[in-house]
Amino acid sequence: MKALILVGGFGTRLRPLTLSVPKPLVEFANKPMILHQIEALQAIGVTEVVLAINYQPEEMLNFLKEFEAKLGIKITCSQETEPLGTAGPIALARDKLIDGSDEPFFVLNSDVISEYPLKEMVEFHKSHGGEASIMVTKVDEPSKYGVVVMEESTGQVERFVEKPKLFVGNKINAGIYLLNPSVLHHIELRPTSIEKEVFPNIAAQKKLYAMVLPGFWMDIGQPKDYITGLRLYLDSLRKKSSPKLASGSHIIGNVLVDESAKIGEGCLIGPDVAIGPGCVVEMGVRLSRCTVMRGVRIKNHACISSSIIGWHSTVGQWARVENMTILGEDVHVGDEIYSNGGVVLPHKEIKSSILKPEIVM
Ligand code: GDD
Ligand code: MG
Repeated sequence: MKALILVGGFGTRLRPLTLSVPKPLVEFANKPMILHQIEALQAIGVTEVVLAINYQPEEMLNFLKEFEAKLGIKITCSQETEPLGTAGPIALARDKLIDGSDEPFFVLNSDVISEYPLKEMVEFHKSHGGEASIMVTKVDEPSKYGVVVMEESTGQVERFVEKPKLFVGNKINAGIYLLNPSVLHHIELRPTSIEKEVFPNIAAQKKLYAMVLPGFWMDIGQPKDYITGLRLYLDSLRKKSSPKLASGSHIIGNVLVDESAKIGEGCLIGPDVAIGPGCVVEMGVRLSRCTVMRGVRIKNHACISSSIIGWHSTVGQWARVENMTILGEDVHVGDEIYSNGGVVLPHKEIKSSILKPEIVM
């Protein structure tokens, strides 16, 4: 089987992290977002992944070359010269996706995280005989997603409404699709939206089916959701009794610590923390609900909560960093500094406290 991952977009909502690397390469739980997806696809027998991309393809491909060999999966690129939306890229990659056979292919949004029940999805797709399957999940705030109204017993989709202004339901498009090659008849090679143009069309022909996604789901394309997503992800590792979770008297709840990271005496870490490779956490540090990317140093007695610390940054001693502070790459926070929701661009030095949420350029 083959798969296409929609990698376009500039990831502006995840700045300043996406000023350093394309969104799909930003680590989530110590692994680039896109690798979570590629590994899940490989695990159910997908042999080729096409990245639909509209900028910086070299960086993505160079990075993924290593994993091509490691995972034994072919990773290629389909590059747009202008952004083609969420459907146009599928038409552009048509020759890579279909090889004469009638086999369905996967399409994934690149910024969603879940347990990827793809095997169940293949079975569901075979069982209903329609043209396309989509995964749906329930959320409290459906208006920022694509909303699906379906026939509960069969899963047949009656309506698909992208970002509805009025309430139509609380089951939303999770951004994971399985499509028959015939779906390509509905897609023209131009900038076009699968949510606004293609799915409503297939739904009207009663050939679109939805399956409720078992387990957790999150679009991690913005900082607040990224931090919530980490909690849900670590929770699911706990339910599976994953050996990846850290343990010890200095750990509270669910925590990931890369094996190359060093943790000093008297620290208290958790819940819902990920510490990346090469990090040095000095003595008496308190971390909760945060992600600390590769190569970060956190000095004695610093306290970090609900924040993301970008690659190779340092946080000074007795500093307090909280409330959705996002430090870009190589940011240096001085000793005893307080950051309340500061969003700090790469390569900055913070010498005075940030008292209310603001962007520091
Ligand atoms: N190649 C390419 N070209 N990819 C694109 C383009 C483009 O022009 N525009 C967007 N994408 C990619 C994004 O990188 C992302 O992986 C995916 O398409 C969806 O775009 P987002 O910008 O993240 O959309 P959204 O989050 O507002 O809404 C989508 O996702 C929701 C679930 O998270 C929709 O699919 C909603 O229906 C869905 O509920
Ligand atoms: Mg998104």
